[in-house]
This record gives sequence, C-alpha cells and structure tokens, in this order.
Amino acid sequence: MATPRDETHFGYSTIPLADKQGRVDDVFHSVARRYDLMNDLMSGGLHRAWKDALLTAVNPPKGDRAFALLDLAGGTGDVAFRVAQAGGPNTRVTVCDINAEMLAVGAERAAQRGLDHAVTFEQGNAEELPYPDRSFDCVTIAFGIRNVPRIDRALAEAYRVLKIGGRFLCLEFSSVDLPGLDALYEFYSFKVIPRVGQAVTGDREAYQYLVESIRKFPRPQAFAGMIGEAGFRRVSFRQMTGGVVALHSGWKL
Ligand SMILES: C[S@@+](CC[C@H](N)C(=O)[O-])C[C@H]1O[C@@H](n2cnc3c(N)ncnc32)[C@H](O)[C@@H]1O
Repeated sequence: MATPRDETHFGYSTIPLADKQGRVDDVFHSVARRYDLMNDLMSGGLHRAWKDALLTAVNPPKGDRAFALLDLAGGTGDVAFRVAQAGGPNTRVTVCDINAEMLAVGAERAAQRGLDHAVTFEQGNAEELPYPDRSFDCVTIAFGIRNVPRIDRALAEAYRVLKIGGRFLCLEFSSVDLPGLDALYEFYSFKVIPRVGQAVTGDREAYQYLVESIRKFPRPQAFAGMIGEAGFRRVSFRQMTGGVVALHSGWKL
C-alpha cells in the first residue's frame, strides 16, 4: 500500500521518513561484528554465489587498464574484495557506507588480506555522495538499496557519479513466486532467520527487520522502472535461486 510522501516503511511498520536512516543505522551498528558470519549462516553460503554473479557482471579488467569501482552501502567490503582480487593492478575500489562500524570491520579485513592498497573505506550517504560527477567506471550496491530511505535519490546519485559508458549493478533480494518454494521461503524467513539472528548476534529485531524489509521492497519489474527513471539505459534484471535475489543492471549512455 502506498504511504504518504513523508512516511515510509521500516520493515512492516510505517514510520516518518526522517526516522528511517537512524533506525537502519541502529540495525547495522548492532550486527556489524557478526554481519559476515550471519550472511553465511542465513544463506547457507549462497550469498557467495550471488556476489560471484555480480563480480562476473562487473568484469574488472585483468590487464593494467585503470578501473574505478564505487561499492555503495559496501559495508564490510565483501564485494570490494572480490573485485580487487579479480581485477588488474590498477583496479581501485571505494567502499562507501553510512555506518562507521561496518566500515571499521571492513578496513580490518582489508588489512588482514593485504588489500588495503586497492580498497578504501569512506563514510557517506548513498543519497548524497561525496564524489564529483563522472568519477567511476562502475557503481555496485549489494543488499543495500532497500535500506536507503529515498531510493530515487540514491539511484540519481549513482547515475551522477558514473562516467559515460559506465554500468550500475544492484544485487537485491527479490520475490519468490515458485509454488512450493514460496511457502518454504516464507517459513524459513519468518521462523528461522530471526531466531538464528537472536542466537548469533543477540538482536532478533534486526533480523525481523531484514525479512520484513525484503517483503516491502518493490518487485523486480517495478524496481527496474525506477532505475530507468533515474536515467539509466538498457535496463535489465536477472533473478537467481528461484527469485530469492535479482541482479539489476543499467548503463549510463
Ligand atoms: C545488508 S548490508 C550490505 C553490505 C554489503 N553490501 C554486503 O553485501 O555484504 C546494508 C548496508 O547498507 C548500509 N546503508 C544503509 N543506508 C545507507 C545509506 N543511506 N548510504 C550508504 N549506506 C547505507 C548499511 O550501513 C549496511 O552496511
């Protein structure tokens, strides 16, 4: 159901739009140290395959051509590390996230993996990016866009900072419509994930928000429309794992 312009969803709750970012920040502040472990537990490791599909689409150059990627809402750096490891010596990744705790975990992981020369972590809001126009060859956002209060602003900003010819790629949870799988997915989402979240992070509410926010996110066709409205061309999407996630793509041409 549509909400008035100054209201939005926080999971299944309707809250003032101005309050959403603070509520989202509390969620990721609370789970930052256990975030990566929870991703593996909740998805049974599948998030790795989904991120590999994103990496294949990014396709960073193997040679010494310069390549600048912005990973929006990049959190603890998972996507950034994959791209930095797959790319050539002049591949550089900027992880931009609003949450200092998630970034701190990411920066520690980058140092442990010897990737701190290629990956930088910067605090910023996807709705108001601290980068000049046309500065990146590719912009990615994985499991981040549904947390951003004003999605249209984040898409406009991604478009602004991309170079002409650059690609926007967004990995996000989607809609499971396969008979049988949908009931199983519903059960797993609402009965299992919040309990695992409670056991591992001590924060059941954070994982209740996660599953509710997935259900409130626009369906893939509608989200593809929003990407087109931001100015992107050749907009497409591909669903994976029976519709559990979708990889969306658009080009700045
Ligand atoms: C589910 S995590 C995804 C992290 C990472 N991309 C991954 O796939 O593992 C969502 C991230 O979105 C970030 N986020 C939420 N609102 C944001 C905003 N307005 N601007 C930038 N990042 C934001 C959160 O801080 C969090 O790190």
